[in-house]
Parts: sequence; C-alpha cells; structure tokens
Amino acid sequence: MICILLVAGHGTVLETEIKNDDTGLYGHLAAVPKALLPGIGGKKILDFWWEMVNMRQLFTEVYLVTNADKYKHYERWATANDFPVENIVNDGSTTLEDQMGAVADLELVIRSQKLQDDIVVIAGDMMCADQNFDIAQVIGFFKSKPGELIIYYELEEGERSSSRGIVEVSPESHRITRFVEKPEEGLTASRLASVVFYCIQKNTLCCMSDFLSLQPKTTSRTFGHFWEWCINEKHLDVFGMKLPTGFQLIGQVGLSDYTKWLAHYSSKKHGNSAKPITCRSYARVGLMGNPSDGFNGKTIAMTISNFWAEVTLVESQALSLVPHPLNDPTEFGSLQDLFCISRREGYLGGLRLLQATCKKFYQFCSKQGIALTKQNFTLKYDTNIPRQVGLAGSSAIISATLKCLMKFYNITDDDLPKPVRANFILSVETDELFITAGLQDRVVQVYEGLVYMDFSKLLMDEQGHGNYVSMDMSSLPPFWLAYLSDPSDSGRIHSNIRQRWLNGEHEVVEAMKSFSELTDQAKSAIQDRDWTRLAQLMNENFELRRSVYTDGCLGPGNLKMVDLARQFGSAVKLPGSGGAVVGLILDQDKLVEMRQAFQEAGCVFCVITPYNPSQVLSEVSANLTAR
Ligand SMILES: *[C@@H]1O[C@H](CO)[C@@H](O)[C@H](O)[C@H]1NC(C)=O
Ligand SMILES: *[C@@H]1O[C@H](CO)[C@@H](O)[C@H](O)[C@H]1NC(C)=O
Repeated sequence: MICILLVAGHGTVLETEIKNDDTGLYGHLAAVPKALLPGIGGKKILDFWWEMVNMRQLFTEVYLVTNADKYKHYERWATANDFPVENIVNDGSTTLEDQMGAVADLELVIRSQKLQDDIVVIAGDMMCADQNFDIAQVIGFFKSKPGELIIYYELEEGERSSSRGIVEVSPESHRITRFVEKPEEGLTASRLASVVFYCIQKNTLCCMSDFLSLQPKTTSRTFGHFWEWCINEKHLDVFGMKLPTGFQLIGQVGLSDYTKWLAHYSSKKHGNSAKPITCRSYARVGLMGNPSDGFNGKTIAMTISNFWAEVTLVESQALSLVPHPLNDPTEFGSLQDLFCISRREGYLGGLRLLQATCKKFYQFCSKQGIALTKQNFTLKYDTNIPRQVGLAGSSAIISATLKCLMKFYNITDDDLPKPVRANFILSVETDELFITAGLQDRVVQVYEGLVYMDFSKLLMDEQGHGNYVSMDMSSLPPFWLAYLSDPSDSGRIHSNIRQRWLNGEHEVVEAMKSFSELTDQAKSAIQDRDWTRLAQLMNENFELRRSVYTDGCLGPGNLKMVDLARQFGSAVKLPGSGGAVVGLILDQDKLVEMRQAFQEAGCVFCVITPYNPSQVLSEVSANLTAR
C-alpha cells in the first residue's frame, strides 16, 4: 500500500488574512503553507499526519504532492522530519488560478511515479481533533471490502452541510449509496461529511484519467465531483468508515477559523486528559417471565440502585487494566487464606470481563467501519453486587465498561443502538467467556428502569433483537430481595432444560409459552397498579418454574427462602438464575418480622430501591431550576 499526502492547495484566504493581520500575533506565520501552521500542542498540522502514516509495516512509500509556490517550505520540512525529499512531487502551480485540481494532483503522483498499488490519499492540511487514530484499523477495513473506502464524520451542530461532500451510507453494508458535493438545503438529510481521506484500489486508479478527460475545467477537478461521478454515475463499489471525531480547516478558510479551531481542539484535548470517565450499571431483578428470555419468551425486569458496578476509564500512557483488590486477588494472607477465598469465590474475577469487553469493542468497531483513536487508557472497576446469586453482576461490569468505552471514543447511540448494545454485551459473555445467559439482563441494564421485553422468535429472526418497552415506574409497590450469604454450597444440580427445549419437548415449549402469558398479564397488572394481581402472578411464575426445573435444580437454598417468604404471606420468585429471591409483600406490617426471619436463616435481606433513569434526569433538572 502507498500513502499520498496532498498539500497542493493554495491557502489564499488564510494567507492573505495572516499577512494583513495587524495584531502582530501571526507575523511569524506569513507565507507559511496551511499544513505547516502550528496545530494542537505546537506541532505542525502535517506532523500529525506524517507521524500517523510513517509506518513501514503498512506503507511501502509515502509521497507528498505540493505546488511550486510552497515547494521550498515542504523541502525544508522534509529534511527536518526524516521525510524522503525525493518523494515530494511538485505540480508546478503557483496560484489558485493556475491550480491543477486535487484529482489531477493525485493523478500526477500516480503517473509520474508509476505507482501500481492500492493507495491512501489524505489532505495533509486538515485539522482533526484526534489525529492519532489507528490507521491500521482503517486499512484493515478497506482490505475487507470489495471496493474503495471514504472516511467520513458526523457534522457537529452548527456545521453546515453545504460546505462539505455529504455521503449517504447504508448502515448494514457500509456502502456509500449517494455522494452529494456541497448540497443545497433539503437535498439530503444526511449529516455525514466525507473528508479527503480515501483508500483506492490499484485497479480503480485508471478511472482518474477517465474522469479528468471528462472534466477539462480545473475547478471541477475536485474529489467531490470525482466521487459523485464514481458513485452516482459509474456505480462503483465505494464503502464508508466513520471517524468519531471532527475535521476542520477544509478548503479555503480564514484566520478566524484557524484560531477558533485551534483553541477549540486544544481545550478539548486538555479537558479530556484531565477528566476520568466513570459509568455505573445496576443489578437487576427479573420480576416476571424469567427465565424465558433465553427461550423466545417475554419478561419484565427492573434495575435496582442497591447494587451496582462502576467502571472508571482515564486516559493514560500505557493501556492497562487494574485488578480489583477483592475480586482479582493476587496476594493472600496464607495458603489457608488462598484456599478459603478460592473455595468461596472461585477463580473468575472481573478483570477478564474488562479485557473481553475491550477486545469485542475493537472487533465490533473494526467490523462496523468505526475508526478508533490510538490513545491508551487505564480501566478499573468496583462493584457491590453479590456474586453467584444471579443478580447480573458480570453483565453489569461489562455494560459499565462499554459505557466508558463509548464515551471515550465518542461512539453515539446511532453507532451502537440500544438493542444492538444488549446483543453486544451478551456476545462478550457467550462468545468470549462461555457464560450461558439470555438477553434480559443486558437489555434492562442498557435501557435501565422497568422494562418489558418480548423475545419472540419472529422478532428475533427479523430484527436480530426483541421488542423492548420502558414502563412507568411511578408508585411501584415496595419489593424486597433476599439472597444466600454463602451460595457456593447451595447444592443445585445442573438443568437440562435448554437441551429439552431445543429438542422441542412439548412440556418445556408449553412452559415457555406460559411464562410469556404471565408476563403479558403482569404488564397489565402493573399498568393498572393492581398489586394483588401482580403478587399472584409472581407466585404463579415461581410454581411454573418449579414444575419444569424440578426441586433438584432449584436446590434446597432457594426452596428454603421461598418457603420462608410464604410463611409471611409474601409473593416470591427467583429474580435470576438462583441464589436470591425477590418478593412483594402486601401486608407491610409483616415486613420487619420477615426480614428478621430471613436474617436468622443466614440470608441477606434488603428492601429494593428501584433505579429509575428518568427520575434521575428530572431530579437533576429540578435541582438546576431550584438554583
Ligand atoms: C463527538 O461526536 C459528536 C457528534 O458527532 C460531536 O458533536 C462531538 O463534538 C464529538 N466529541 C469529540 C470529543 O470528538
Ligand atoms: C500505548 O501504550 C504502549 C505501551 O506502553 C506504547 O508503546 C504506545 O506508544 C502507547 N500509545 C499511545 C498513543 O500513547
């Protein structure tokens, strides 16, 4: 692969404004080409690009094409920066009027250097907020596609699409379906702007001479017109990759643009590196229908703020994952201490969850055509979700990690929509860590709050995910939760339900249907605030589970907790895979007594505080208005 940096444009407006500036601040920049102006942190704009592409393992050669007017500046820059001077191509133009046009400049390099290889073309005078993104990932994506590649970004608010080449991209295939150069108002709804950052296949290079022969006017020999012709008329296969960062200084810009963006990016960069990103995800209770989520059923689940996992990401020199002192122990008091801890906790801490999430995230973005910056970070986590009692502690760590990564890399809801995010989290667990699980926990942890979920086969097959609906959480009755303080010897035997369901066994298939029906009834009960009915349905849910899973699979610990709750007339069921119970007691006077009974039976008991994301938002805004 060969890289070509284009710096042949005549930065007339900027140069004139610098020359005429009477503040005296920019005197030293008079006649300096745009690409050699100071960028973020005092480095020149071109330095960033050269640093990014100066990689022998990716590019056999890097060329720079400039004009005769600025040639000397680039020659000087090249010797100072270890750039091969013989690879600078001079297009002979000295003014904006006698310029050749960007496509002709590129064609000149290809023709004069007799290049016969795939090429990457980058405008070396663009400024980009994060110039150290991973070019290897871009090349990898290009090589995986049967066509050319255009880099694009999402316009920031206030940036007008009429100043850019706008692309329409198919979200599934990543194919560019339409290219509109500097569209007038209303011509396209797309806010995705292409930049001069393209990968072009060896066999397509000849198209450029065809294009040039059709476009005698140099003002029409722009990449925008070239791509319009390739995509809209010649129907070449062209793909798009998104860079989650802004680009500026494109085309003829003035001094105010330059100083504005320089200040903007510098402060952003500064702000970012100082501030850690912290994200929480919450434990959940399955209120109805579980465990039918893994069997094309329906469920209702709720996030609770009693228990959470929190992940912190901070930009750092090296990329590191910090072991949790309690969950990923590496030092022990004694051999006996190691024995006790290992017996109780097993060998699986949270570190592997962070690592697997990062791995999958990179893989996901590479496949989805989202380029990431190369910036390193440090990840650490903390959690108070009790282990092995089925409260979705692992997926909480994964989903909090994902939130941090999305924030850090500026990945939006559009890039990774909520239903897809839930699938992503599940795939981290099933593909990477071989944890068998259903979608429910991931969905409720992504949506947060009280969520009704429908995993019907038809929906799953058609959309790749279920239908998820957030439900009103105002005036919910008080639910309680109890769990075994030592779940490691709960004596449960492994269930064979999945296999039986896959075999289409009538009893199991019917049971999953019944779980779905219970869920629909519970949905109505919650909407009607009919808590007596909801309590009844919770009990039915447990009995149904008991009948298919049998007491042996539920284990004595779970059965003991259920019996205890019933002694106090409380509705009760399993909120997850076992080790904990969730209940609804209508007779509030019995709550204290029941709590004591659970505590005396060696369980941990708590009253649930639902986690309601919209309430958090309204509280924040209420606080703001109050101030
Ligand atoms: C993240 O992307 C959004 C929209 O694409 C943009 O408005 C915002 O400025 C970007 N932030 C950073 C740090 O790049
Ligand atoms: C990331 O960390 C590695 C290992 O310490 C280091 O070699 C590399 O330069 C770092 N990358 C960046 C962009 O700082």
